[in-house]
Amino acid sequence: MVKIDTSTEVIGLIGDPVEGSLSPRLQNWAIDRLDLDYRYFAFPVKKGTVEEAIVGANSLGIKGLNVTAPHKKVAAKKMDELSGAAKSLGAVNTITFTDEGKLKGYNTDWKGFVNSLKLTGFEPRGKRCLVFGAGGAAAAVVFGLIREAPSRIVIVNRTEAKAAKLAREMEGLSPGVDLEVRPLSGTDIGKKIERSDLVVNATSVGTGSTEAETIWKTDSNFNPDQLVYDLIYNPDPTEFLKLARNAGSKTVSGLDMLILQGLESLKVWTEEEFNPGPMVDELRDHLRQQVG
Ligand code: ATR
Repeated sequence: MVKIDTSTEVIGLIGDPVEGSLSPRLQNWAIDRLDLDYRYFAFPVKKGTVEEAIVGANSLGIKGLNVTAPHKKVAAKKMDELSGAAKSLGAVNTITFTDEGKLKGYNTDWKGFVNSLKLTGFEPRGKRCLVFGAGGAAAAVVFGLIREAPSRIVIVNRTEAKAAKLAREMEGLSPGVDLEVRPLSGTDIGKKIERSDLVVNATSVGTGSTEAETIWKTDSNFNPDQLVYDLIYNPDPTEFLKLARNAGSKTVSGLDMLILQGLESLKVWTEEEFNPGPMVDELRDHLRQQVG
């Protein structure tokens, strides 16, 4: 039986939609495992009411919030203080309210991604990486990779100009990392994939209405020496990961990043120093029951 009384800290998620989000199941499982006096809820918040929601949460004494689509950029603009990553990405996925009532914004998405790579034994330093996509999710991936000093990151996007913009934003952070930009239609993308140690799908192709699709259409460019990562966690595996598995590549689904960014947020709110690694296997099983 869960004990909830006046000392129980409230945390939660704001976004639109939040129905179907795995975060409440993930966070409340971790809260119980760590024996913390917290509870996590999902709050549907429409565009245009984000600021009111955040200010209201602060007034109610809510301990902190996660922020998901489509509010991450707007939320960053409302903060009194931003972490370095949140500032570089212009996006906040975690908010804390200080005792003085100030709003502090963090971004744990990139950390969730990097930690999930390390958990599989992949060390990005000196490695050749290729990322499909140039939206917010791709930005978190590129930001996280850059901090690990790979030798090269190729950003491949349908709209090349967006990839070029992302590369420009990240350039200053990455002395020594070769940042390349290519259009998805480029004739050399297959070769670039073949020469990569890590291939990441950070586009939205492969979930929802595009569930039957894949950003890369053939398994002939993947190989057993690669790690192939799809940020999508529903379905799991995606068509993209199925192609990679056909070619013998090691694969990781977006569930690992979701779990690890969530546990980083929990660390921010609770200031507890726990090791998330040992919880990931059990959490993956626990969350897959909801994904179906
Ligand atoms: P997020 O914040 O989740 O990354 P986003 O900013 O909307 O979402 O980015 C979606 C990414 O998926 C973009 O890289 C987008 O490519 P464009 O920049 O060309 O729009 C990519 N994407 C979405 N649908 C696509 C499709 N059908 N084919 C190829 N790329 C697609």
